[in-house]
Amino acid sequence: MTESGGLAPPGGRPIGGLSDFSASGFHSVRIVSVVGGRPNFVKIAPILEAMGEVPAIVSRLVHTGQHYDHEMSRVFFEDLKIPEPDFFLGVGSGTHAQQTARVMMEFERVLAQEGPDLVVVVGDVNSTLACALVAAKLLVPIAHVEAGLRSFDRTMPEEINRVLTDHLSEYLFTHSEDADRNLRREGIPGERIHFVGNVMIDTLRKYEPVARGKRTAEALGLSPGSYAVLTLHRPSNVDDAESFAAILDALEAILPTLPVVFPIHPRSRKRLAEFGFEERIQHLQNLRLCDPFGYLAFLSLMLDSRLVLTDSGGIQEETTALGVPCLTLRENTERPVTVRLGTNVVVGTRPDRVAAETLRISEAGAGRGKTPPLWDGRAASRIVAILRRHPVAAGADR
Ligand code: UD1
Repeated sequence: MTESGGLAPPGGRPIGGLSDFSASGFHSVRIVSVVGGRPNFVKIAPILEAMGEVPAIVSRLVHTGQHYDHEMSRVFFEDLKIPEPDFFLGVGSGTHAQQTARVMMEFERVLAQEGPDLVVVVGDVNSTLACALVAAKLLVPIAHVEAGLRSFDRTMPEEINRVLTDHLSEYLFTHSEDADRNLRREGIPGERIHFVGNVMIDTLRKYEPVARGKRTAEALGLSPGSYAVLTLHRPSNVDDAESFAAILDALEAILPTLPVVFPIHPRSRKRLAEFGFEERIQHLQNLRLCDPFGYLAFLSLMLDSRLVLTDSGGIQEETTALGVPCLTLRENTERPVTVRLGTNVVVGTRPDRVAAETLRISEAGAGRGKTPPLWDGRAASRIVAILRRHPVAAGADR
C-alpha cells in the first residue's frame, strides 16, 4: 500500500513526498498531467515527450491507478517509454461513484501540494472527469485532450465524462471538425477550441515500425491476413447476459470461415465467468482467447489482421489510420470521422448482421479509406506549442 492508500504503485511517490515543483523556474508553466486507464497511456505518451523538449514547461505525472493489472497498465509504460508517474493514487476498481470519489479525494491532495498552473486530462474515463472536477473547484485551469467527442448516448458512462469534462475545461484540444462543431453547438467559446489532430495517432506512427517486428500473429500460429481480431469491454455489450450471448452467436457464425483472436478485457472475462459462458467459449473452434496484449504486441496483431471487430473507441481510430477494416459492435460512435473517411462500419450487435457484414468485408475488404486531417503524428507538438504560452502569475513564492 502507498501512503495514499492504494495498490502497489508502478513507481510513483506517495502524496506528502517532497516535490521540486515549487523550486521550478520563475516563469515556467507547471503542468500536472493525469492518466488512469489503458487508453490514457497511449494518449499521454507523446504529450509528455513533447513537453520534455520545452525547458519552460515543468511536468508532473499522476497515475490514478484506475487500471492496475500489469497488462492493463505497466506494460504500456514500458512499451511507450512513459516516465514513472510522480504520484500513484492507487484507487483501483469499484462502482462509478466509488472510483470517481476516491480519485477526487486523492487528487485534491496532489493539487493542494503541487499548486500547478494547469492540469492536463485526456480521453473520457472516470479518472478524467474526477480530476477535472477537482481542478475546476480549486480554480486550476484544465486542458482536455480529445475534447468534443459525442455519441449522444447518455447511457454510456464515457459520454457523461466527456460532456462534463469539456464544460469544465479552458483548453479543448480536438481531433476532428465534428468535435469542434459539437463543442460550438454546446456554447463553448471558439477561442477555447483548438483543432490539433489525434495524439493516439502520434503514438501509432512512432511505434508502427517497431510493432511490425513483433510478429504477434506468427506466435499464435496464424499467418498475416488470415484472421480477425475481436475486442469487447463496453458495459452495454458485456454486462448484460443476453447482449454478450448475442455476440457469441455472431462469433460462432464467423469462426468456421475466419479465425478470431480475442484478447479479453478483465471486465469481460469476469462477466464470462459470471454468466456461465466459459464452457461455451472453450468449445468454439478457431477462437484464440488470450489475455490483453501490450501496446506493441497488439499493434502488430492489428497490422497483420484481415479485419477488426470492436466496441472500443480508440481502436476505431487506429484501424482507420492503418487502413485495416473495422466493424464497430455498437449502435453509435462518437468518432464519425472514422466512418466518413476511414475504414469503420458501425454494424450494431444483432448476430445475423454482424456475421453477414464480417464475412462480406472479409471477402471484399473495406477499401483503404483516408486518414483524417491532422492525424499526422504531430498533434502533441501542436498541443504543447499552445500550452507553453499559458500565462503564469509571476509570484515571489515560485
Ligand atoms: C475503462 C473506461 C473505458 C475505457 C476502458 C479501457 C470508464 C468509465 N471506462 O473501462 O472508457 O475504454 O477503461 O480499458 O472509465 N479491472 C481489472 N484490472 C484492471 C482494470 C480493471 O481487473 O487493471 C476490472 C475491474 O474488476 C473492474 C473492471 O475491470 O471492475 C472494469 O474496470 P473499470 O476501470 O471500471 O472500467 P473499464 O471497463 O476498464
